[in-house]
Amino acid sequence: MQNNKPAIVISNLRKKYNGNDTDTLKGIDLVINQGEFYGILGPNAAGKTTLISIICGLLKINNGQVLIGRQETQETKRNIQAVIGLVPQEIALYPSLTVRENMEYFGQMHAIYGKRLTERIEQLLYQLQLNQHADKRINQCSGGIKRRTNLAAGMIHQPQILILDEPTVGVDAQSRNLIFEYLTELNQEGTTILYTTHYLSEAEELCSLISIIDDGIIVENGTPKSLIGKHKGCNDLGDVFLKITGKALRE
Ligand SMILES: Nc1ncnc2c1ncn2[C@@H]1O[C@H](COP(=O)(O)OP(=O)(O)OP(=O)(O)O)[C@@H](O)[C@H]1O
Ligand SMILES: [Mg+2]
Repeated sequence: MQNNKPAIVISNLRKKYNGNDTDTLKGIDLVINQGEFYGILGPNAAGKTTLISIICGLLKINNGQVLIGRQETQETKRNIQAVIGLVPQEIALYPSLTVRENMEYFGQMHAIYGKRLTERIEQLLYQLQLNQHADKRINQCSGGIKRRTNLAAGMIHQPQILILDEPTVGVDAQSRNLIFEYLTELNQEGTTILYTTHYLSEAEELCSLISIIDDGIIVENGTPKSLIGKHKGCNDLGDVFLKITGKALRE
């Protein structure tokens, strides 16, 4: 479903957090086309979550430009939030509310109400197999249910672009498989997906294109197959990743 119309265009993006000595992002250039399943890989502290937060208009930048379609993220946050769905790295749900109540809350944040909201929640409960758990409080749910609800909350408004920051941390093989099937179907139906993960086999399986980021710079990009083919002696993306980013611990 990819086409050549850009969904996200990032040019010479630099970001320095207040109080830090160095830039966290040191000049990122990236184009993600509509319909892509795009993977951003990188060691801890590479800058993945920072990049995602900027794309979503949640953080200010120091230099460069980030366009969603034709809109500048820094200027038109409201419009951007209608187009983008964010599934954050940390579970961002209200622990004392139920699965369904969390979905209602996030739907209302996107100005979805009444029958439309009820139908959308029913659809997501069914697709993510959360029906049986709909009335459980989040603080009584397993990791897999929390992750699936986090996903449902991020895409309650059927965004054109879905951004997932390590969405499968702490889930079992069954939940992970369900999430994969769901995301693959969504992508086939036309949703652009931006995905970060530390599970390199996930990226190899799911992503049509990948960028590897390290210390705030994109150090490599291409299809999983082209990256494995390009680096001699590498049999999978895990090998490529270690070859490019090295074995030293980051933090
Ligand atoms: N609010 C902040 N203030 C100062 N420094 C920050 C802040 N948030 C992140 N950083 C720093 O920016 C760098 C990049 O962090 P970021 O969370 O973007 O990395 P990441 O690639 O998502 O890592 P991980 O794989 O661990 O999630 C790190 O060195 C981190 O300590
Ligand atoms: Mg992160």
